This record gives sequence, C-alpha cells and structure tokens, in this order.
Amino acid sequence: MSSTPATLNAPVSADLKRPCLILGVESSCDETGLALVQLPAEGEPRLLAHALHSQIDMHQAYGGVVPELASRDHIRRVIPLARQVLAESGQTLADIDVVAYTRGPGLAGALLVGAGMACALGTALNKPLLGVHHLEGHLLSPFLSVDPPEFPFVALLVSGGHTQLMRVDGVGRYEMLGETVDDAAGEAFDKSAKLMGLPYPGGPHLSRLAESGDPKAFELPRPMLHSGNLDFSFAGLKTAVRTHLVRLGWLDRPDLLAAPEAQPVLANLAASAQGAIVEVLVKKVLLALKSTGLKRVVVAGGVGANRLLRAQLDQACARRQIRVHYPEMHLCTDNGAMIALAAAMRIQSGQARLSTEPSFDVKPRWDLSSI
Ligand code: KG4
Ligand code: ZN
Repeated sequence: MSSTPATLNAPVSADLKRPCLILGVESSCDETGLALVQLPAEGEPRLLAHALHSQIDMHQAYGGVVPELASRDHIRRVIPLARQVLAESGQTLADIDVVAYTRGPGLAGALLVGAGMACALGTALNKPLLGVHHLEGHLLSPFLSVDPPEFPFVALLVSGGHTQLMRVDGVGRYEMLGETVDDAAGEAFDKSAKLMGLPYPGGPHLSRLAESGDPKAFELPRPMLHSGNLDFSFAGLKTAVRTHLVRLGWLDRPDLLAAPEAQPVLANLAASAQGAIVEVLVKKVLLALKSTGLKRVVVAGGVGANRLLRAQLDQACARRQIRVHYPEMHLCTDNGAMIALAAAMRIQSGQARLSTEPSFDVKPRWDLSSI
C-alpha cells in the first residue's frame, strides 16, 4: 500500500546533523502516541516528552478493536497530541529535524493516519521522514529505562499480535529464533479473558483476577513446552479454557459469569491460564539463552507488563546469573516514545533510511527479521 512505491524510503542523504530532534508518531492499533526524542551531539537518545491517547474505552463496547473506529479516532487525536509534546518539551515545529512514524505492522487504515500526518508535516517543514517497524520500537524500548541493556541479547517480544524470540546483536541485526505458530501470548490472554466475560483488552484484567486464584486448580496444556525448538503455540490453551467453561455451563452466559459465586472459580481459571502462558514463555526464554550462550534478556511488548512473567523470569534468570531488562511499565504497551527512540537509534547507528519524498507507505504485514 503506497502512493509512490518506487521512491519509497529509499536511502536519501538527507543532511542530518546531530544534535537532532525526532518526532515519533505511533498509530498502528488502538493507541495514538506522539513523542519527541533528542539525539544529542554525543551520547544516548533522550526522551523529552510523550503523550498517549488510548482508545480502549471506545472499543470496549465491541469486545475488541473496530478498525474503522480506530482510524477515525487517530485522526481526531494525532494533531492535539503533537501540540501537547511540543508544548511540554518547550520545542516548536521548526525545531523538528526528522518525522518518524510507524510504517507497520498493524491495521492498514490506522497506520495510514500516522503515516499521512507524518508525511504532511515532513513536507510542510521540508524535513525527512523515517518509517519505523513497530516491533523494532518495542524491542528497543528498554533502552529508555533506568537500566538499559547492552548488545547482544535474547529478546522476547510478546505483544497482542506477536510472540517471537530473537537474537539481537545490534540495531537492525535481528535473527529470528522462534515464534508462535498460531495465537500470540497476548491473544491467548485476550481470548481466554473474553471467554470468561472480562472486558477488552483481557490481558491486564485476567492478570488482576488471577491474583486471588490458585494456578493449580485447573489443568491446562503447556503447548510445545517440550518441542525442543523455540516456537510457541497458544491456540490450544484458549480451547482448553473454553472446554472448562462448557463443563461449568458458563460459556456465553454473561449472567452466570458475573455471579458472585462464580468469581473464585474464575479467579482459579485465570490463574491457571496465566500460569500456563508464563511457564511456556519462561522455559522458552531459558532454552533460547542456552542455545545462543547469551547472558542477557530483553522482554518487550504489552505482555511484558505482566507481573507474574516478570517475577518468574527474574527468579529463573537470577539463579543463572542472567540479566533481564524490561521497558518502563508505562512504555510496555504501544506508545510514540518507542517509535521516536527506534528512529534515533537507527540514525545513531548510521542505518536510517530517511526519505525526503513527499510520499509514504505503510506495511500492515511486515516481518521484523526482513528489515
Ligand atoms: O504491545 P501491545 O500494546 O500491542 C500490540 O502491539 O499488540 O500489546 C497489547 C497486548 C494485549 O494482548 C494485552 O492484553 C496485553 O498486551 N497485556 C497484558 C498485560 N498488559 C497488556 N497481558 C498480560 N498481562 C498484562 N499485565
Ligand atoms: Zn505493540
């Protein structure tokens, strides 16, 4: 999907000097995120300001993201949020040197809003554009934390749409070690939660409910735990949750699911589902560390906010003298800061494919290991 594909993101020797100021625009799904990152003359990128609008409340009534509504809401939010980050950081439009936007993967219409805005702004300011891979943004987001990682490391990318293990040797040097063959970990959380009558997005709700539950109460599968490779499969887990709900007579019965006496049982089911997902993720991370010989892990993406995953991974890695790095809690889910940061790190490492063409494209499906 592009306006002038032939010139798209061709490397252009845009006259880019450090220090430079990067505006990041994220609009791949249900969050509009804007941020300003400064790449100083020397040293590491610095986040000056970021602003976010989540569409969760709007989509909740439908039990999931409605793409058309998502696009329309991005249109409403993107300019006010850009103004907000400029005001908060004391910068003006004229100070912006590069406009970075999420090029993919994500919802086509939603991506087009951010890309269109970025292109219009870049053209008006006569500044280059940089299309960023959304997952590269997640992957590099721990570099904005108080405890940033060092290359090389194993990365566990766990978002709503992706579950991947990568070997990361530097910016742009990503080797896929394994990925899910069906549902992503976030999807397993969200689909199980939906079956249990919890609001969208289910991950955080299921995780909260699980706090009072017994993770051993229900027997649930650990798909591909002993497959010997680094791939995942989570579709069977959702089916097993469904089967338990059928047995209880609660499937598609919101009245019974909401009853007070059902809550302890649902808490047990939530804890069992979370326990199964987390166990598989932790075991596969350990296997990836063993097979690569690396001593450092980065966890990124929305599911990286899960407290049980953090606790179990920290515990398993501490025993093995392995360092684990996470993004700051508020930067685990989608945001503009990670997009501006990924752009800054690409520029810093001399790998930015800047475009000065008054055109843009989006890639709704885009493999990170292909960039
Ligand atoms: O990275 P992200 O914001 O969006 C995508 O790029 O997909 O991830 C969203 C996913 C959703 O599936 C959401 O339920 C899950 O992250 N998530 C969680 C938690 N917070 C967000 N899953 C489990 N526990 C959480 N605390
Ligand atoms: Zn994401």
